[in-house]
Amino acid sequence: MIVVESKEKHSQRIANCIAEEIKLRQKFDQHLVLGLATGSTPIPLYNELVRLHTEENLSFRNVYTFNLDEYCGLEDNHPKSYHDFMYFHLFNRIDIPRENIFIPSGQIEPLFERDYCEGYEQTIKDLGGIDIQILGIGRSGHIGFNEPGSSVDSITRKVKLHDITRRDAASDFGGFDNVPTHAITMGMNTILSANRIFFMAFGEAKQEITKRAFCGEITDDVPASHLQRHKKTTICTDFDIT
Ligand code: F6R
Repeated sequence: MIVVESKEKHSQRIANCIAEEIKLRQKFDQHLVLGLATGSTPIPLYNELVRLHTEENLSFRNVYTFNLDEYCGLEDNHPKSYHDFMYFHLFNRIDIPRENIFIPSGQIEPLFERDYCEGYEQTIKDLGGIDIQILGIGRSGHIGFNEPGSSVDSITRKVKLHDITRRDAASDFGGFDNVPTHAITMGMNTILSANRIFFMAFGEAKQEITKRAFCGEITDDVPASHLQRHKKTTICTDFDIT
C-alpha cells in the first residue's frame, strides 16, 4: 500500500496504529514486539509516541523493542551511537521496562560476533517475532544496514558500510574518515519476517532510490526492493513514486 502525505501525518497515523495494537495486547495480557530504526526519518514518529505517552497515558510496559542496527566500535554512550539516539529520542521519555529494550551492541569481540548475532535472532524468535517493523531507506538502497548485495536470506550479522552510507554520515562524525566502517545489522530475512512493516521515506534525496526500490526490479543490488514481496508493507512517502 502506498500513501503520500506529509511526514507529520504519516507519523501520527503510524503512532496511532502502534498505540491501538499496544492497547489491544494489554487487554489480553499480551506483549507487542516493535522493530525500530534510527536516523532522521523516524524522529517525528518517536515524538508522537512520546506525546501519546505523556498526554494520553499510553503505556509501553507490554512492549519489547529490537533496533535494526548499531555501528561497530562505538560504546553505548557514544553521542553518535544508535543506543544514545534511541534513549534520547524515545526510551528515556516513555515507560518501557529497560529489560525489554534490545539494540545490537557495537562492542562485541570478533570471536564472539557470530554467537552474539545468533543470540539476537533467537531472542526475537523467543518473543514470537516482530509484530511491527519501522524502516527508513539509505541512498544506497539499504534497509537497516543491509547494503547492496545483501541476500534475502541474511540474518543479523556484521557488515561493511557502503561509501554512500558513510558519506551521508560524515557530517555527524566530523568527516568521512571518522565514520565507522562496519556495523551490526538485522538481516533481510529478519526484517522480511516482520508481520507488518511501515516503510518511510521523506524528502527529495530519497525519491530516486525509493522509486527504484518499489517500481524497479527486485534485486539484491537494491535491498529495499525485496519489500515488494512482503505481504503487509505500507509505503509512507511525501512524494509520488508511481
Ligand atoms: C538506521 C537504519 C537506516 C536508516 C537509513 C535512513 O537504524 O536502519 O537504514 O533508516 O539510513 O536514514 P535517515 O532517516 O537518517 O535518512
